[in-house]
Amino acid sequence: MTDIATLERDVLAAIDSAADEAAVEDLRIGALGKSGSISALLKTLGGMTPDERKEKGPQINGLRDRVQSAIAARKEALGEAALEARLASERVDVSLPVQDGPEARGRIHPISQVIDEITAIFGDMGFAIAEGPDVETDDLNFTKLNFPVGHPAREMHDTFFFAPDENGERKLLRTHTSPVQVRTMLVQEPPIRVICPGRTYRNDSDQTHTPMFHQVEGLVIDKSANLGHLKWILEEFCKSFFEIDDVKMRFRPSFFPFTEPSMEVDIQCSRKGGEIRFGEGDDWLEILGCGMVHPNVLRNCGLDPEVYQGFAWGMGIDRIAMLKYGMPDLRPFFEADVRWLAHYGFRPLDLPTLTGGLSS
Ligand code: DAH
Repeated sequence: MTDIATLERDVLAAIDSAADEAAVEDLRIGALGKSGSISALLKTLGGMTPDERKEKGPQINGLRDRVQSAIAARKEALGEAALEARLASERVDVSLPVQDGPEARGRIHPISQVIDEITAIFGDMGFAIAEGPDVETDDLNFTKLNFPVGHPAREMHDTFFFAPDENGERKLLRTHTSPVQVRTMLVQEPPIRVICPGRTYRNDSDQTHTPMFHQVEGLVIDKSANLGHLKWILEEFCKSFFEIDDVKMRFRPSFFPFTEPSMEVDIQCSRKGGEIRFGEGDDWLEILGCGMVHPNVLRNCGLDPEVYQGFAWGMGIDRIAMLKYGMPDLRPFFEADVRWLAHYGFRPLDLPTLTGGLSS
């Protein structure tokens, strides 16, 4: 009897002073586990006479029940205390200003932004995106586009040529995105409706020219595509892109080997106070070249000009980015200066859409 009372006192005292839940668990194993002290007492019941068991049974079982509930109570108390301590140490001051994470501090380069804007506008009109490599063949950059060998128009492009390879072929850095037209027509049956944004290269550098720059090409080929469609598409594009309600455009006759007729397109602007504004004024600013795809180009791409016709245009992305966002010099676009990017860049989570706004 003394044994049971002493054991109970010792075990309950130990439980009471256990410092954490792990210590309580150790005590539980020591008392009620397989070889625990109380389990050993319970085992002695089997060897007792019925009279002894009548007396000791309730004592030992009572001891087990009291120790069990003391362990449960201590575990609960310790658990609550641990939670209280955690809540106190992890307290959040909800009145603090929100801290920007890196994803909110980064900036989208204006060229990427403008390409996304252009893609959103033409995507909405049903155009797909086509791409081609920066390193191009002479054939796709010039010959298939109806530049005759030795024609002066080839020289006008200030081309970067590579050294001839083992077959004597001289690759080049594409001087325009027009070879992507050819690549598209060579593999895709009309109707074709694509835009081709990408990098282009010419040996030229000043305030508005960099050796690497960006163009976006447009191409529509089917059985009836005509200049009326081209004019509508370009007008809708300019209104959406420059975010103005109305725009006047001027189509001037021009020359490109790959289009006939060829035109250059100016848009109405005002230059009052040294600032260019679109949709007003009586000045003009050239923004792109375009025309009906030359029958020779269609033929070079395996399309019958008696069946198919279409139009194409090419536009400088950097130039329209400068115009839209009022950047005076093209060169800093490619100098990777984070201060410039912090000023002219766009928030990464503001994706341009026609419904949500292109640039806001
Ligand atoms: N490739 C021309 C250039 O870089 C731009 C151009 C003009 C593209 C007329 C076209 C076009 O598709 O039809 O100067």
